Amino acid sequence: MKRVKINTLLASDEQIEKVIVKGWVRTKRDSKEFSFMELNDGSCLKNIQIIADSKLENYVEISSITTGSAVSIEGRLVESPGKGQKWEIHADKVDVISIAPEDYPLQKKRHSDEFLRTIAHLRARTNKYGAIFRIRSEMAFAIHKFYNEKGFRYLHTPIITGSDCEGAGEMFRVTALDPSSVAKAGKMDFHSDFFGQEANLTVSGQLSAEMFALALGDVYTFGPTFRAENSNTSRHVAEFWMVEPEMAFCDLNGNIDHAQELLKYLTKHAITNCSEDIALFTDFVDKELRKVLETLINEEYAKISYDEAVELLIKSGKNFEYKVVNGNDLQSEHERFLAEEYFKKPVFLMNYPKTIKPFYMRVNDDGRTVAAVDLLVPRIGELIGGSQREERLYILEERMEQMNLSKESYWWYLDSRRFGTVPHSGFGMGFERLLMLLTGVSNIRDVVPFPRTPGNIDF
Ligand code: 4AD
Ligand code: MG
Repeated sequence: MKRVKINTLLASDEQIEKVIVKGWVRTKRDSKEFSFMELNDGSCLKNIQIIADSKLENYVEISSITTGSAVSIEGRLVESPGKGQKWEIHADKVDVISIAPEDYPLQKKRHSDEFLRTIAHLRARTNKYGAIFRIRSEMAFAIHKFYNEKGFRYLHTPIITGSDCEGAGEMFRVTALDPSSVAKAGKMDFHSDFFGQEANLTVSGQLSAEMFALALGDVYTFGPTFRAENSNTSRHVAEFWMVEPEMAFCDLNGNIDHAQELLKYLTKHAITNCSEDIALFTDFVDKELRKVLETLINEEYAKISYDEAVELLIKSGKNFEYKVVNGNDLQSEHERFLAEEYFKKPVFLMNYPKTIKPFYMRVNDDGRTVAAVDLLVPRIGELIGGSQREERLYILEERMEQMNLSKESYWWYLDSRRFGTVPHSGFGMGFERLLMLLTGVSNIRDVVPFPRTPGNIDF
């Protein structure tokens, strides 16, 4: 007989004479005649209650079952007289697969997030983290579903690259050179390295995606990206996933409409397909979450220019830690003020000064700003960063010169502006920040299975 998952059993319309479930015991209590176990197999948030009669032949062994132990149960699925559960299983057979000793760390019902980070290899066995990682899985699927329905092609951009897309120089080096021979030589000799030149882990798949948008039309990448920025904040990790659509024949407005459509679709998908797990967060993690999600779905997102935002921030009279200066990048406190307090909904910020943005963004007619767009959302700040791309070869070359970028190493990128160049646009959405937004989880370390941050790569 085949094992059935608990989510399937709990959705059953009828009693079942014989079922097999396997999972881990969350809690157990014994009475004189029975042993009651709450069993979870990770298929859903809910446990199923198992009732084992003391007449079972291995009842002594059953009595020794502890929290965290793994068991296989054969029995009858019957209606439960208990509150809050439709079904329970009356066991005919209890096989102990393994007993967890008393030092199993998840004995209590509640543990702090900080503690659970120190046992990241076990935390998915708690209600909260089980829910987070089921939602993470479902939302990755939803992203592919959205783009598949819209006729976008899925592109695998390289993880190891020779170019720095964002030009911020926050890259992890990839090398096959032996550190001791590098030390002996006193320098890295890239010519003798694996690729014969410098190589890094990608910070964004954008430049490759642009090449394919100019061939396949609408494409997206969705994969891991890496940043060696030493910012120990609750919104940065060194390894994160990014969704990056890139669209040919699309301007900044088309880009913005697409971003709004994507976020609304994903929020609806989460509410429809992860309702039980989302409810855990609306009930226990963030009382405002339901409202936030409704706003994401129902409201038109605000749109303002960078200049307007700066003016708003200065007029707000708020005492920010970092002073607001036109020409400087906005800090997360500024971004959050705009989304959280001022607009109380997501806000698109457009047309930033070109001096604070990468070389590939399209220069506006004013010559001072570029067709950039960031989407700022309540509680997190920047969720999306993107732009219309500079499609005019001479302006792009000029920008690269101004920014001291080598035209030789970007020769292939420049080729795309020589051969059939067209207006095109795209953006990157941080997948972890999306998950924070949808769950109300306030630390990015808690939505990544095994987070990588400065000084931390234990698991
Ligand atoms: O704004 P960013 O740097 O944009 C790019 O990389 C563009 N090349 C994307 C594109 O146009 N195709 O990053 C995009 C998003 C940010 O808005 C943020 O959500 C997320 O990626 N992000 C991070 N998430 C977690 N940890 C970090 N260290 C992140 N850095 C960026
Ligand atoms: Mg950005």
